[in-house]
Amino acid sequence: MKVDEVRTLEEHFERFGVEGKAFRAPARVNLIGEHTDYTGGLVMPMAIGFQTVAVLSPREDGRAVFYSQNYGTEFAVDVASVGLDRRGEWSDYAVGVLWALAQEGVAVGGFSMTLRGDVPLGAGLSSSASVEVATAMALLDYAGVDLPIERLATACRRAENEYVGAKTGIMDQFVVAGAVAHRAMMLDCRSLEFELLPLPEDVRVVICNSMVKHRLADVAGYGDRRGEVEAGQEVVRRERPGVLQLRDATLADLEACADKMSAASFHRCRHIVTENARVVDSRAALLRGDVVQFGEIMKAAHVSMRDDFAASCAEVDTLVEIASKQAGCYGARITGGGFGGCTVNLVQADATEDFVTAVVARYRTATGISAECFVCAPADGALALRAGVLAAKDGAK
Ligand code: GLA
Repeated sequence: MKVDEVRTLEEHFERFGVEGKAFRAPARVNLIGEHTDYTGGLVMPMAIGFQTVAVLSPREDGRAVFYSQNYGTEFAVDVASVGLDRRGEWSDYAVGVLWALAQEGVAVGGFSMTLRGDVPLGAGLSSSASVEVATAMALLDYAGVDLPIERLATACRRAENEYVGAKTGIMDQFVVAGAVAHRAMMLDCRSLEFELLPLPEDVRVVICNSMVKHRLADVAGYGDRRGEVEAGQEVVRRERPGVLQLRDATLADLEACADKMSAASFHRCRHIVTENARVVDSRAALLRGDVVQFGEIMKAAHVSMRDDFAASCAEVDTLVEIASKQAGCYGARITGGGFGGCTVNLVQADATEDFVTAVVARYRTATGISAECFVCAPADGALALRAGVLAAKDGAK
């Protein structure tokens, strides 16, 4: 599942006639804590082995030339005149980062950049954050600037929110930048404090792609849900002293305000409030090594995403249902923004192969769709990957 970095460097050279320098950023899967990030809540994602590689070489003419090997097309703009003018295509994610870093005061000269990724698109695995963070790593190196993770992730989120126009939270960019291999990351999306948590050795994280695609900027669903959540949050904030964000609200707070908000807002907010509690409970289960409990919490999280948040779809529900019935599956749920995409499953290590075979076969029988499944281990984020590259170079001296 790894993009061939050497091949990308070679193709950059063939195309632009100069050697470039390569930077990588992974994709992510969220174990639990869905749609909690933009109300200051808790999430528990991990990075996975899919990656984007960004190769950069300087150029003299002040142009930023982006080439996507995946799409086979190029887009160029004058670095000095990058404004908020998105084109509704792949280049927005990279140009958006150039724009967002400029807002942060990070100035660069002209450059050529080759991008290549193997992250499945529209699958809820953060292909966009992967492109953003890989681009940012390359640009920051070129500028000779080292941003702390909070500013790096925030700049990439700005690219997504303001340039691309998808009003997402901070989870994806933060974990894609800051994850560490063998660990899940519990992130407090308000303080941006995080804790790295080990997963038990005898379980595997299996991602199953329903093959139903979504794109956050297109799908009305994400923005609609966010609107419903924010409307409900506003009511709770007004009515309950001490509640600044849903993060601070208890179920009792929310219930006390139920008749002052729409039924939709109430259900969306109930998902958020219960989901924050589930992240806390999952952490405790992980620290106890209690996979059974963790799996039960995942199942409850799926029901909440499906019924209260209304962000699942028939195919994904079928995939979760099939997975939950397999031997050795502790828990299964939709992951990411929703409305399609992938499920995340916690499976006993020695049952993984049978699990994948059975799920693919039964899902095909039920829907006619061939799902793709990936067995994942928690991977390094972009900062750790860069540190690894530096360490390898130091070691070679
Ligand atoms: C997308 C967004 C995240 C988060 C999730 C849902 O991945 O980019 O910020 O809101 O959906 O948990």
